[in-house]
Amino acid sequence: MTDLATRLIDALPKTELHLHIEGTLEPEMMLALAARNNVTMPYASVKDVRAAYEFDNLQDFLDLYYLGMSVLIEERDFHDLCFAYLLRVKADNVAHVEIFFDPQAHTERGVTFETVLGGLVSALEQGERELGITSKLIMCFLRHLPEDEAFDALACACRHKDHIFGVGLDSSEQGHPPEKFSRVFAEARNEGFTPVAHVGEEGTSQNVETALDDLKIERVDHGNHAFDDRALVARLAKQQTPLTMCPISNWRLKGIPSLGKSPVKKALDADVLVTVNSDDPSYFGGYINDNFHAVREALNLDEADIVQLAKNSFAASFLSDREKQTHLDKLDETIRKV
Ligand code: ADE
Ligand code: ZN
Repeated sequence: MTDLATRLIDALPKTELHLHIEGTLEPEMMLALAARNNVTMPYASVKDVRAAYEFDNLQDFLDLYYLGMSVLIEERDFHDLCFAYLLRVKADNVAHVEIFFDPQAHTERGVTFETVLGGLVSALEQGERELGITSKLIMCFLRHLPEDEAFDALACACRHKDHIFGVGLDSSEQGHPPEKFSRVFAEARNEGFTPVAHVGEEGTSQNVETALDDLKIERVDHGNHAFDDRALVARLAKQQTPLTMCPISNWRLKGIPSLGKSPVKKALDADVLVTVNSDDPSYFGGYINDNFHAVREALNLDEADIVQLAKNSFAASFLSDREKQTHLDKLDETIRKV
């Protein structure tokens, strides 16, 4: 029989809060969609695709990530991509997801905002109906593009407030600090979108502080470099601002030299509301439970740590307090049965 911590990881209900839907594109689907849409890719086989996934840093990955998504053209492609992800994480006992998408990476290729959103929304609705997984969508601005272009994406999002809950900031952090997007985040907040941002992934703790103070983010995506500044860690713990960490991603992008250097345990010990997530599971070779298992082993996490991480995933979500409580009651019930 497997040990208790392993069984808890597999069985506990959880949310995934840091997941780029385009980063769930598995090589098999990439090649199938390339054939379906007549897109030429520089890969002859699934093996070739996987062999290309060796990264020295974030930019190395982003180059292949943008290339990969060029096979996504029709609404049904976005639907198929998103429903395949939901099916996969149903097996990991994911009960709720807050999913990032990158509309600018599609609109700049001539795919309309409505094509992208239509496919995602229909898959999320089917996921709730058939799999019982609830969801929220967070639209990310691509930080390597000018702020003016982020305003264009925001204008599109304003036409679809019923389906888009929040705005985020992703892509290359180096050379593109959060203050570049002050105005568009202010406007997005005015329009009622909940703000989050990738900061402190490759950038400094100063980026984390600026995103909190200037962009007024309600959740930090990654935030690894917050741990370079003790006062900032104390602030995150005091405010209970969540950190959505992605250990396998950090390791595969060489942000940390080994999984043993993931700050997840440090965050737990400092009372920071940390969560464990997969980021781009197809590219990094691990879905959410794989990330839980990886940190459990590398950081020697015990059963209490695992339960805390699963509870944090609900606490850090944008679900209502009532919804959170319902999930936490189910989680307690699961603990009793494991
Ligand atoms: N887009 C997809 N994954 C990302 C990551 N880990 N960091 C920044 N942008 C991303
Ligand atoms: Zn990310």
